[in-house]
Formats: sequence, C-alpha cells, structure tokens
Amino acid sequence: MFERPRSGERAVLVHVNVGGSAHPEQLEEFRELARSAGALEVAVITGSSVSPDAKYFVGSGKAAEIRESVAVLEAEVVLFNHTLSPAQERNLERLLKCRVLDRTGLILDIFAQRAQSFEGKLQVELAQLRHTSTRLIRGWTHLERQKGGIGLRGPGETQLETDRRLIGKRIKLLNERLEKVRRQRDQGRRARRKAELPTVSLVGYTNAGKSTLFNRLTGAAIYAADQLFATLDSTLRRIELPGRTRAVLADTVGFIRDLPHDLVAAFRSTLEETVQAAVLLQVIDAADEERREQISEVNQVLAEIGADEVPQLQVYNKIDLVPGLSAHVDRAENGRPVRVWVSARTGEGMELLLSAIAEVLGEDQVHRTVRLPPSAARLRARLFALGTVVDEAISENGDLRIEFQMGKGNFEQLCRREGLQQTWLEGAA
Ligand code: GTP
Repeated sequence: MFERPRSGERAVLVHVNVGGSAHPEQLEEFRELARSAGALEVAVITGSSVSPDAKYFVGSGKAAEIRESVAVLEAEVVLFNHTLSPAQERNLERLLKCRVLDRTGLILDIFAQRAQSFEGKLQVELAQLRHTSTRLIRGWTHLERQKGGIGLRGPGETQLETDRRLIGKRIKLLNERLEKVRRQRDQGRRARRKAELPTVSLVGYTNAGKSTLFNRLTGAAIYAADQLFATLDSTLRRIELPGRTRAVLADTVGFIRDLPHDLVAAFRSTLEETVQAAVLLQVIDAADEERREQISEVNQVLAEIGADEVPQLQVYNKIDLVPGLSAHVDRAENGRPVRVWVSARTGEGMELLLSAIAEVLGEDQVHRTVRLPPSAARLRARLFALGTVVDEAISENGDLRIEFQMGKGNFEQLCRREGLQQTWLEGAA
C-alpha cells in the first residue's frame, strides 16, 4: 500500500556508537535480534559519531559506504540498531534503494512473528500501524505526487489521504476488537480470581528460555486441561504443584533493552498478568555474561508497570552450558527460596523448581482438609463454587472429607461468615 521498497532477508546491519564508549555486547544483541527476525546477515557496518546526522542518522561518508554494500551484496533490507526519525528513514530508503528498518520496526517485526494469541496479534498490528502512521504523516508526503493503486483512491483523493484514511479505519477497528478481547479476558480473570487460583508469571530477558521452561513445566507438572484458560490465551496453563497446590502458569513477552515506550504500552495488557501475579519467576540465562545488566533491565520494566512489589523467585536457566553447575536452590536467611538453578532443556532441576514455587506460594495460601457433617451442604456448595476443592471423599461415618486450597483472605472470610467451624478442620494437608 505504501510503495516502500520491498523487503527481504538479505540484511546489512548498521550499528553506530553515538557520542559514547563502545559496547560490543550491544552489537552482539542486535545481531541476535536480526537473526530472530529471520534476517540473513550479509554485512555489519559499524562506526562512531559525536551526534546523529539529521539527514541520514549516519554521516554522508558512512551512508555512501552502506549504499556500496547494499549494491555489491544485493541486500534487500538495511537494519539500524537505532531509532530513526521518519525523515531519516525516508531519506535512507531513497538513497539506498532498499527497505530500511529501525530498531523499533525490527522489534515490532519480531513481536509480529511471535505473537500467538489473538489479542497479541491485534496488539502487534496496532503498534505497527501506529509506527507506520507517524511515518506517513510526517515523512511520506512525497507519496502525494504519486498515483495510488487501483481501488485505493476515492475521487479527487491523493494517495496520502487514502492511506491515512485506511490506516485510521483499521486502527479504529483493531481498537474495537481489542476492547472486546479485553472484556472477555477480564471475565476470565475474574473467574480465576473467584477460583482463587494464584498466577505464577514467567518474566525475563528475551532468549532467557521462558517458553522452553513454560513447556517443560507444564509437561512436568500435571497439566489439567481447562477450557476457560485454554480458549483465552495459549500462554496460560493450569498446573499442579507438589503438595497438590494448584496454580496458573503464565508466559509473557520477553524484555529487551531499550524497549520502545509505546511498545510497553501496547503490551500492557499482556503484562497485566504479571502485575496481578502471586509470584514472578524471573528466568535468567545463567550462561550469559550480560546477565546482571539483563536482570536490572527486567526489574526496571517491572517497576514501570507496577510489578516490582510482586514476590520474585529467580530461575537461573541453562546450567547445562556452564561447566560445574548442577541443579540446586539458594535460600535466604529465613529459609525462603530465592534462586533455583535449572536447565529447561535437559529438565534438570524441575522438581526443585516446582517445590520452590509451591513453598513461595504457600506463604499466602491455605491448604487444609475439612470434615463436613451432612448438614453443612451449603458450605460444601460454597467450596465448590470457589473452585478450591482439590479432593473429596466420604468418610466411614458419612461425613464429607474435603481437601481445599485458597488464599488466606478467603479462608478467614469462610470461617467468619460462612460458618466453617475450626473443629471440622484437620491439620494442614
Ligand atoms: P523470547 O521469546 O525471546 O522472550 O525468548 P524465551 O525467553 O522464551 O526463550 P526460549 O524459550 O525461546 O529459548 C531461547 C533459546 O534458548 C532457544 O534456542 C532454547 O532452545 C534455548 N534454551 C532454553 N533453555 C535452555 C537450557 O536450559 N539450556 C540450553 N542449552 N538452551 C536453552
């Protein structure tokens, strides 16, 4: 629709140190990002400058060097590890005669490929359109002189007006759909809160191994298929932990250094799972030398979305890549688990991790067994309505023996208002 040069896989990567010291790991991460987006790196062009050039971001000499590489190596796209202004992007595309993507565009592209849920896809498309529309309004006025495609124009309309109108319409439609999905999600979340199942959210720097761990844990733990969650989002699964504690495990998008702010906003609802979680599992790549910086990047985003108060358990993953490390748990002085060392790939340490999660969760969960006389049918119905029942059996004398798990608050309320008598309770299960 926008008559920009077509894109492809053969990519020239551009990374410039602007007015500061060199950070080789930033270049490595950029190459990794490009690979994640499916780019085939044909050249890496680096340089340094005191401040970005207004026209091309890089100086004209460097721009000529990039053009030379693009032509000789038949590159189809040039990726910049920087944020480009719409004008810079347009000037570069004119000069290089190929598609130019800046860092935000690249990250959006990766998110677009990874988004799995319906809502995720809508959010990515919305963020992409917003990114494009700023470029249209300020940077694509040259399109006004061009002829539009058949069927794209109304009478007397310029291509730019048509594009803006189409984008505006699409954004409106996407917002409406998102609103609907959010409403459904809220209902799901309310049902889950009512069911008092605590959520355990996986967070972590991109590539730390969240999805691998998610799959491993949902495979290792007893996976209870649950229509409610399954239809809402493929990244939510109910799991059962040792001690028959039940929880919902949520996978979230990976965090990246310099995550553009409008992207954080676009993904807020995915990250809302994180804010509402009972425990956060911060997955860390134990084999990555940059892990300290990555942890602080992740914590910074968590603070931004108001999730810094949620209890955390750190999961040092990929221990199979670090000679001499084996699965173990580090505890704080009070005995609470703080770090678990595992390998999601080999499965080493999964039992330790599941127990540690159960321990941390157990701090605000009550797990008890109650013996109810037949007259307490209302209380039994209430327990089932709360969705907290783990097991039920009839004892020898006809009493119902019900094992349940719920948050402390709900439990206290049940004792105070719903007539749950202390004498009916057995010791902790
Ligand atoms: P994003 O989706 O970018 O946020 O990544 P992620 O954190 O979900 O990471 P993912 O599970 O996709 O794993 C990233 C890479 O690390 C993949 O190539 C995995 O196979 C690999 N990986 C994950 N866990 C382990 C592990 O325990 N050991 C090793 N050696 N590799 C692992």
